[in-house]
Amino acid sequence: MARYELVKRSVALITLTNPPVNALSSAVRHAIAKSMEHALNDPKVSAVVICGENGRFCGGADIREFAGPLRGPPLVPLLDAIEAGEKPVVAAIEGVALGGGFELALVCHYRIAHFKARLGLPEVTLGILPAAGGTQRLPRLIGIPAALELITTGRHISAQEALKLGIVDQVTEQNACEVAVEFALRAVAKPLSSRRVSMLTTPCPPDLDALLEAVTMQVKKKARGVMAPLACIQAVRAAATMPYSKGIKRESELMATLFNSGQARALQYCFFAQRTAGKWTLPSGAQWNNSKPREIRSAAIIGLGTMGRGIVVSLARVGISVIAVESEKKLLETGKQMVIGMLERDAKRRGVSASLNLLKFTLSLQDLKDVDLVIEAVFEDMALKKRVFQELSKVCRPATLLCTNTSGLDVDALAGVTDRPHLVVGMHFFSPAHVMKLLEVVCGPRSSSETIATAMSLGKRMGKVSVAVGNCPGFVGNRMLKPYLDQATFLLEEGATPEQIDKALEDFGFAMGVFRMSDLAGLDVGWRVRKESGLTGPDVDPKNPPRRRQGRRYCPIPDMVCEQGRFGQKTGRGWYMYDKPGGTNAKPDPLIQNLLEMYRSRYGIQPRNISDQEIIERCLFALANEGFRILEDGIAARPEDIDVIYLFGYGFPRHGGGPMFYSSMVGLERVLERLEHYHQAHPDVPHLEPSPLLKKLVACGSPPVQKWREHIKTMHSHL
Ligand code: CAA
Ligand code: NAI
Repeated sequence: MARYELVKRSVALITLTNPPVNALSSAVRHAIAKSMEHALNDPKVSAVVICGENGRFCGGADIREFAGPLRGPPLVPLLDAIEAGEKPVVAAIEGVALGGGFELALVCHYRIAHFKARLGLPEVTLGILPAAGGTQRLPRLIGIPAALELITTGRHISAQEALKLGIVDQVTEQNACEVAVEFALRAVAKPLSSRRVSMLTTPCPPDLDALLEAVTMQVKKKARGVMAPLACIQAVRAAATMPYSKGIKRESELMATLFNSGQARALQYCFFAQRTAGKWTLPSGAQWNNSKPREIRSAAIIGLGTMGRGIVVSLARVGISVIAVESEKKLLETGKQMVIGMLERDAKRRGVSASLNLLKFTLSLQDLKDVDLVIEAVFEDMALKKRVFQELSKVCRPATLLCTNTSGLDVDALAGVTDRPHLVVGMHFFSPAHVMKLLEVVCGPRSSSETIATAMSLGKRMGKVSVAVGNCPGFVGNRMLKPYLDQATFLLEEGATPEQIDKALEDFGFAMGVFRMSDLAGLDVGWRVRKESGLTGPDVDPKNPPRRRQGRRYCPIPDMVCEQGRFGQKTGRGWYMYDKPGGTNAKPDPLIQNLLEMYRSRYGIQPRNISDQEIIERCLFALANEGFRILEDGIAARPEDIDVIYLFGYGFPRHGGGPMFYSSMVGLERVLERLEHYHQAHPDVPHLEPSPLLKKLVACGSPPVQKWREHIKTMHSHL
C-alpha cells in the first residue's frame, strides 16, 4: 500500500501503491503513518519525498469506503503529524492530486508538480467538503477568493495554474520524483516553520462578508438546493476568522452534516454509475472487456441539420476526417459555414487550431465508398431513412459501419434494408450534439458485438458518456420522457400553470422545467410525431372523445398551442412568450392563461390547487415507473444506465442521483403507494399503474439499486 525506500543515502521515498489511482484507503493511510514514523525516527533520513506509483500521485480518499464505518487511522491527525514533523517532506505530484491527495500534498513542506499533473478538491462534486484540512489550508496558502473558487466548484487545475496560484513550488517536465529528491536534499538545512501552511495567517480581504455573500448568491443560483457548496463557503469563512485549531473543528462539524446526507449518497452514486455505464454487457456474454472495437479514422455524416452539424464537430475535433453530405447545394453551403464557425469557436475556446483540413462537403453519397463509419442524421422519416440506408449499402465498402441518429425509430428495420445488418447500430446524440455529453448506443438484435464496441468506444473518444440500450420506440431516454410530459400536461388541465410546474421541477433541481425545455426544443417536433401516429390532426375520428385517444387519457392542449403557430422560442411564442423569435427570456403569457381557462370551462373541469409535491410525485414517479418497465423489458441492463441517461441527457439533478436512484432514496414502498394512489384517481392513465418490477422489488424488501439486477429475470433481453 506504500513502498518505503532510502534513496541518495538520506532521502526516504514513500511511494503510494494502491492502483489504479492510489486512493487513500485505510490500508494506505496505515502504511503512510508507519512509513512516516519510520522516516522521522531514522537518524539516517534527513528528508522525505512522497509520490504515487504508475505516475499518479493520489486520487483522494477511497470513495468506496464511505459506505462503511471508518477503519484505519483518520486522515486529519495523520496529515497534521506530517506537517508538524521536523524533517522536510516534498510531494512529487504526477498525474493527479485530488481531494485527500491534494490535502496530503498541502501538508508536505514543498510541492513539485509534473507539467501534465492536475490538482483539485473535487469533494463538492461528491456532496461533501475537503475535510482533511483542505478548507483551512488552501485559503491560508492562496487567499480566500481563489480558494473559494476551487473548493466550491471542485475544478481541476493544471500544474501551471497551480504554480501561478502559489500552490506548487516548481513545475517540471522531468520525472517529478527525481526532481523532488534533489529538491529535498537542498531543503534539509532550511527552516520549516514558514512552510507549514496551517501556521500561516489567512490573507483576509477587507470586504470578506460581501465577498462571501456574493459567492453564496452565485452558488445558490447555479446549484439550486445543493448543500455542499454552501457548507464549503462556511468552512472557508472559518479559515478566515478562526485559528487553524478551531477552523479544523468547524470543517469537521460541517462535514458531519453532509457526509450522511441523501445528496452525498446520490452524488457518490453518480460517480460510480457513470463508470458502470461504460462497462456494457450483453446477455450473449459479449462485453466491454472482451469485444474489440474497430479503429475509426474516417466518418461520414448524412444531413447537416441541427444534429448533423454538431456530430461533425464532435468527430473532427478528435482528429477523425469527416465527409458531410447534404441534399441540396444551398443547404450544403449553409451547413458548411455553420460547421466551420462552430469548429473555429470551439478551437478558440480550447486554445488549439481548428481542424478544418479534416472536413469535406459533398452532395453525393458516391463519395462515401471508403469511409470507416457513416452516421445518418436526416429527417425523422422512416421511408427516407430506409432509402438512405439502401443507398449506403450499395455505395460503401462492405466493412463500413452504418449508424443512425434516429431519436426513436426502429434501428433493426433500418438494418433490415442493408446488406450488413450486423454492422448497423444506433448512435443517438443529444442536442446540441457537440455540447451534450450523452450518447445512447442502440443495439439492434442483429448488431454485432464488434459494432457495439466500436460505437461505444467512438463515443468515449468524442468525450461522451456512452450507454448501451436496446431497440424499442424512443429507446430509454425518449421512451421515459412521454409519461413525464403527459403528467405535466394533465396537471395543466387540472389547474396548474406552466410556470408553476416548471418552478416545482426547477426547485427540485432540474436544469429546466418541462415547458421551458419544450419551448427550447421546439413544440412542432412533438406535434408532427403526434400527427403521424394518429393522435391528432385530420386522421383522428371525429367521433373520438376529445380527451381520449387509443383507449387512454389524452391532453390536446399542446396541439392547441401549436395550432396557434406557437412553436416555442423559435417563433417567440410557445408555453411562454419571448421578446422576439429566438429569444430566451421566458415570460408567462396571459394568452396561455386564457387558453387554459377556456379549455377547462369547455370541458367542465373545476381547477384545483395543486401542490408542488403532487407535481414532483406525478412527474417523477411516472418517469421512474417507465424506467422499471424498461428494466423489465431488457431495454436497459441496469438502473445505473437509466440514471446516467437522465443525468447527462435530460438535466436531472446529480444530487438526486437520477430517476431510479431517486426512487430508492424516497423509498420504493412510498413510490409504489403514491403510484397506486394516483392510478386510482386517474385509472385511464396506464403509465401511473405501478410496474410489476416495482411491486416485486417492494415485495423483496426494497433492495438497494445496485442489487436490483438480481431480481430482474428478463426472458427476452433487447440488448
Ligand atoms: N476512490 C475509489 N475509487 C476510485 C477513486 C477514488 N477516489 N478514484 C477513481 N476510482 C476508481 C474508479 O471508480 C475506477 O474504478 P473501476 O475501474 O472499477 O471502474 C478506477 O478507479 C479508474 O477511475 P477512472 O475510470 O475515473 O479513471 P480516469 O483515469 O478516467 O480518472 C481520476 C482518474 C481523475 C482520478 C478520476 O477517477 C477521479 O476523478 N476520481 C475521483 C477523485 C475524487 O473525487 N477524489 C476525492 C475523493 S473524496 C476525498 O478525498 C475526501 C477527503 O477529504 C479525504
Ligand atoms: P434537421 O431537420 O435539422 O436536419 C435534417 C437535415 O437532413 C436537413 O438539413 C436536410 O436537408 C437533410 N437531409 C434530408 N434528406 C437528406 C438526404 N437524403 N441526404 C442528405 N441530407 C438530407 O433535423 P435534426 O433535428 O438534425 O434531426 C436529424 C435526426 O436526428 C432525426 O432523425 C432526429 O430525430 C434525430 N435527433 C434529433 C434531435 C434534436 O434535438 N433535433 C436529438 C436527437 C436525435
